[in-house]
Amino acid sequence: MDRLAGKVAIITGAAGGQGEAEARLFAAEGACVVLTDVQDKGEGVARDIGGNVVFLKHDVSSEADWARVVAVTLERFGRIDILVNNAAMYDPKPMMETSLASFQQHFAVNAAGAMLGMQAVFAPMQAAGNGSIINIASISGTRKIPGQFAYAATKWALRGMTGCAAAEFGRAGIRVNAVMPGMIRTDMIAKHAAEDNARFEQMVPIGRAGESGEIAEIVAFLASDAASYINGAEIVADGGLTL
Ligand SMILES: NC(=O)c1ccc[n+]([C@@H]2O[C@H](COP(=O)([O-])OP(=O)(O)OC[C@H]3O[C@@H](n4cnc5c(N)ncnc54)[C@H](O)[C@@H]3O)[C@@H](O)[C@H]2O)c1
Repeated sequence: MDRLAGKVAIITGAAGGQGEAEARLFAAEGACVVLTDVQDKGEGVARDIGGNVVFLKHDVSSEADWARVVAVTLERFGRIDILVNNAAMYDPKPMMETSLASFQQHFAVNAAGAMLGMQAVFAPMQAAGNGSIINIASISGTRKIPGQFAYAATKWALRGMTGCAAAEFGRAGIRVNAVMPGMIRTDMIAKHAAEDNARFEQMVPIGRAGESGEIAEIVAFLASDAASYINGAEIVADGGLTL
């Protein structure tokens, strides 16, 4: 398969979970991949995938880190066609237990991190007249779910940011879309009690949590030229949970 042949992608938060699945699929589809994360284990993931895949340690809330990631990507691969803003933090608490520091940290990583990423790749994508940005939001940004106040607020924000960016970047040839996963089996949901996860799974019409690879397929489609007329879209992938 070569849906992404010749393309260069930056995928954040790719040391595990969905980001890692995206990095593996993108590489299999012919892309050169820069996978980034705050966790060093991304190095081993990049080595395991092999080929034109490199790991860069990267805190998405740092503007200086973004400048370095873009510079190294351009130096190594000469272009940037795809950005997947996948990294996120998740410390689920109701509002009355949410500290200002936690609220600000969620916004720094999940919302500002995505903005900094879009700003950082704009110039090279504009120069190429072509680009695809995929922001990983959540069904937590489509419903009023109690108990994850700061996280949910960032995902509502990311949806708005995606729409505004799609409107602003469209004439530069840059498409910006959002994917909104439901319950996906990664380290993120391992933070919940096993019985809570089992209960949630029963609420999903297709009767199970999703797998990272199922989200990666959607992201790869949006990144590819097959999605050339999709801009500002929000794709929900939740097994029907929010029907
Ligand atoms: N798992 C789910 O049920 C679910 C549901 C809806 C949306 N999502 C979203 O999917 C995306 C991927 O999450 P996942 O499920 O693979 O979870 P995950 O915890 O496996 O992956 C998140 C990654 O982001 C990295 N990260 C955290 N802070 C960072 C920072 N400041 N800079 C760079 N990297 C950082 C983590 O180290 C981790 O590798 C996230 O945006 C998440 O909000 C997940």
